[in-house]
Amino acid sequence: MSAKIIDGKAFAAEIRGRVGAEVARLKAEHDITPGLAVVLVGEDPASQVYVRSKGRQTIEAGMNSYEHKLPADTPEADLLALIERLNEDPAVHGVLVQLPLPRHMDEAAVINAISPAKDVDGFHILNVGRLATGQKAMVPCTPLGCLMMLRDLHGNLSGMEAVVIGRSNIVGKPMAQLLLRDSCTVTIAHSRTRDLPGVVKRADIVVAAVGRPEMVKDEWIKPGATVIDVGINRIPAPEKGEGKTRLVGDVDFESAAKVAGAITPVPGGVGPMTIACLLANTLTACCRIHGLPEPEGLTA
Ligand code: GUN
Repeated sequence: MSAKIIDGKAFAAEIRGRVGAEVARLKAEHDITPGLAVVLVGEDPASQVYVRSKGRQTIEAGMNSYEHKLPADTPEADLLALIERLNEDPAVHGVLVQLPLPRHMDEAAVINAISPAKDVDGFHILNVGRLATGQKAMVPCTPLGCLMMLRDLHGNLSGMEAVVIGRSNIVGKPMAQLLLRDSCTVTIAHSRTRDLPGVVKRADIVVAAVGRPEMVKDEWIKPGATVIDVGINRIPAPEKGEGKTRLVGDVDFESAAKVAGAITPVPGGVGPMTIACLLANTLTACCRIHGLPEPEGLTA
């Protein structure tokens, strides 16, 4: 058997197209343009790449993009003051502070300073609590993207056995909450789980988000299961030449694809969905702030 390869790149393009169409409608019917403010503190190279991509795709969707770049030694109070200004700015509907922050900053305090209504990352403690209690929340982008792919593939997820590997606040925990909300039977496994292969073998849905290159092997996977690989790991690739590297996920793709029913590749799977869902969240936040109906199929 050979798995269906889930094309995250194409799906993300479709989401961006739907967001763009809704943005155009908001503009035409209500004279409102959604705005996303992204704050980057310091010069982490990976964060710089992400922030550039977010800005470009925001503009391509017809929204306004506001980038704020602060030096690494910015006092926390200055960052909090900027967040306060963005919270009060009516042109801004989404506020995202790129993580990780420099070590002298208190990440939780910074995240919780963002207005929950504008928290397009869904990291604010109020949104975490709302998601956990089934209330209307802003939902973290990567798990939202995974959920959209799963719903697209299966329709109704009710009663399916789901195993999430990884317990991070950004992916693992919110992913488990979303799957639970869709009536899956959910297990959160992690690097310390006893008999991880045995636990994963039960799953109709596996979401791997541990950050360990190619850890999930074909023997762990139930034949026909759907495998969503959130991992993005850079490993040496001597076969490409000295000093060369390549990207791999948390799943051993080549072998797993022979057993799974469907699987996301790395790159080109979950990755592109994250920014597409950030744009969807910005649109959702804008509609909620203005008391307008939310576009269908772009939220959890
Ligand atoms: N750094 C890595 N992933 C993310 C994310 O989803 N949101 C933010 N704000 N920072 C990140």
